[in-house]
Amino acid sequence: MRDASKPVTYDELGFVGLIRFDNPPVNALNHQVRTGLAEALARATKSPQIKAVLIISGGNMFSAGADLKEFDGPLAEPSLQQLQAAIEMAPVPVVAAISGLALGGGLELALACHYRIAHKSAKLGLPEITLGIVPGAGGTQRLPRLIGSRPALEMILSGAPIAAADAMAKGLVDKVVGGDLGDSAINHCKSLVHDRLGPRPTRNLTVSGNLDESTISEILGAHARALKGRTTQKLVVDAVRAAVLPFADGIAIEAANANKSLASRESLALRHVFFAERESGKVEGLPQRATQPEINRVAIVGAGTMGSGIAMVFADAGRSVTLIDTDDAALARSGTAIRSNYASSVKRGRLSQEIADERMSRIRGRTKLADVAAADIAIEAVFEDMDLKKKVLSSLDSLLPADRLIATNTSALSVTELGRATAHASRVLGLHFFVPAQASKLLEIVRGKDTTLDTLAIALDVAKLLKKFPVVSGDAFGFIGNRMMLDGYFREAEQLLLEGASPQQVDTALEQFGFAMGPQRVSDLGGNDVGTKVRVQLFKRESRPDPYFVIADRLTKLGRLGQKTGRGFYRYLEGRRDAFPDPDVDKLIEELASERGIVGREIGDEEIVERCVLALINVGAMVLDDGIATRASDIDVVWTSGYGFPRHLGGPMFYADTLGLAHVVKRIRHYHEKLGYYWCPAGLIERLAAENSTFEQWDRQRKAGVLTLAV
Ligand code: NAI
Repeated sequence: MRDASKPVTYDELGFVGLIRFDNPPVNALNHQVRTGLAEALARATKSPQIKAVLIISGGNMFSAGADLKEFDGPLAEPSLQQLQAAIEMAPVPVVAAISGLALGGGLELALACHYRIAHKSAKLGLPEITLGIVPGAGGTQRLPRLIGSRPALEMILSGAPIAAADAMAKGLVDKVVGGDLGDSAINHCKSLVHDRLGPRPTRNLTVSGNLDESTISEILGAHARALKGRTTQKLVVDAVRAAVLPFADGIAIEAANANKSLASRESLALRHVFFAERESGKVEGLPQRATQPEINRVAIVGAGTMGSGIAMVFADAGRSVTLIDTDDAALARSGTAIRSNYASSVKRGRLSQEIADERMSRIRGRTKLADVAAADIAIEAVFEDMDLKKKVLSSLDSLLPADRLIATNTSALSVTELGRATAHASRVLGLHFFVPAQASKLLEIVRGKDTTLDTLAIALDVAKLLKKFPVVSGDAFGFIGNRMMLDGYFREAEQLLLEGASPQQVDTALEQFGFAMGPQRVSDLGGNDVGTKVRVQLFKRESRPDPYFVIADRLTKLGRLGQKTGRGFYRYLEGRRDAFPDPDVDKLIEELASERGIVGREIGDEEIVERCVLALINVGAMVLDDGIATRASDIDVVWTSGYGFPRHLGGPMFYADTLGLAHVVKRIRHYHEKLGYYWCPAGLIERLAAENSTFEQWDRQRKAGVLTLAV
């Protein structure tokens, strides 16, 4: 039995000292593990009969690295660096046996060992850059010594792990094996001793390859998109370049840069999002279940854009899917779309033909609703029409056993009302997937008034199965994401157009701020008609006064639907995505503005960004105050994973904290005076600003139960 208080064990197998460390779930190198490893190593090196030491995981993962929570304070000794020094100085060879993942500090531990043997399924990487951190336990110094400076820089800047075979080709591991890693690793130790191969401290190796300016800018260029607006890469380059210096000097530069990165706003924001993504699936009061219901067979009703995408997501997760559409032609179109989607993944080398075929074979098209009967869950994705959806849901309710989840993918309709069209509203909820369903990481789970926690628990299982970030939303106008987009961000962008900014000015300013794509380009991509239809439905819930989206709705009316019709806010050339300004649109906007007595003026980029982002924050605070979202950090997950808000700024609510809520309120009041009612400051921001508090503190207090839930 594993003793959780002793994550590290030491045994002697003849002349091999065997150190096993086991700290589930990811074998994080926390203080206890580091202490255990250091003690075990000391025992091994003191033992006269030991001629080689093997470090291996007791589970199926070498180590996913440091415990991120430890980064918030000073690290307790022994540090990873002290442990690594002890390994490198050991008088006998120390071998790392790598299974599963060796990431971050986990890989850095292995880099300090004298030899590395990996299982063929292992993956190795330094993903620190994704958290805005420079690898700080020798990664930038030892990796270049083992594989050369260029491949090392590429690996650290990409952050993506590499497969064992690739690691072997690069010289990162000495041997790759299949079968039982433990046995192979012990044999490897024995053969080292037999061949009299002694310790081989990585720090004593010299770096091959030269990092000149053009190589660096070429590598940076390859990662420019992922690193847009970021600064950590400069610190990484600096540290990797220092690997040609004597080890102690290089390590000092690495340490300084790693500390700088840890204290940076960018890293704080990225770590905030990382934790927010892990927190979002936690819901208070969920039932303790003895067994988890199986989700093997999924029925999806409506084989349009969304239904087809959702079908692929489940097929990718190994589930069998029945995709139902009453329209034969729609079903045929869906089949073609799914096939061409998989074909393009194969072409790009993302999937093998064999896997693509297997996934496609899991999706079967049907035209009769009765075919849902065997499904473990059903998801409705038919046209956005209340009566139609009610009919479909009620049929699903009568066809499926009463314990099966029934979900609607509605983007605008009341989930509560839809649920009440069935005899079991308790098992109905919204699963709001985003386009493209296969790629978007976000899944809004909409809880109707009658949805039970048992139902919610199944929806959270679904999110986990699909590897998506679930965010639970109340059932209200636009849920979380669309409410903030429509009432906050996009509305302000349109207002700025009416006041004289051009679509390209607004888009470029927000893209420079860090959004993946500006609001008008997003509208043109998704289709202006899609937005108009959503608003028509939403207005049945609550209306908004003019000039709410007068421009987008007029474009829809004129058939300027966006990229698909070659005209929208911009003009497009056949088959191209580049957006060209269109004087006709400028004229149209001027007309709409003058009808409303709005006089155009020059608007600076700073004002564009400030207004769009503050509007987003203000509506976000209202969503929190109304209890539609549970945590400010949930909103950050929605916006970073579903709406292109720059991750390195942490999401709108975290960003508000970094601006300071007193400043945020002051500016919102300023715009309230200038632009009127819709800028009315959210009560929650005013309260937090008055208390000199932050959204992060508000989340923390609620978690601790200090504040009562607003719902
Ligand atoms: P779509 O128009 O592409 O597809 C709807 C499909 O439902 C059509 O193939 C139609 O033949 C089928 N259908 C209609 N009545 C049916 C019935 N009684 N039984 C079976 N199939 C039936 O629509 P899309 O874009 O896929 O949207 C579906 C749902 O997803 C809507 O509620 C929409 O609001 C929502 N949604 C759409 C997003 C988008 O951007 N397209 C994003 C998120 C949600």
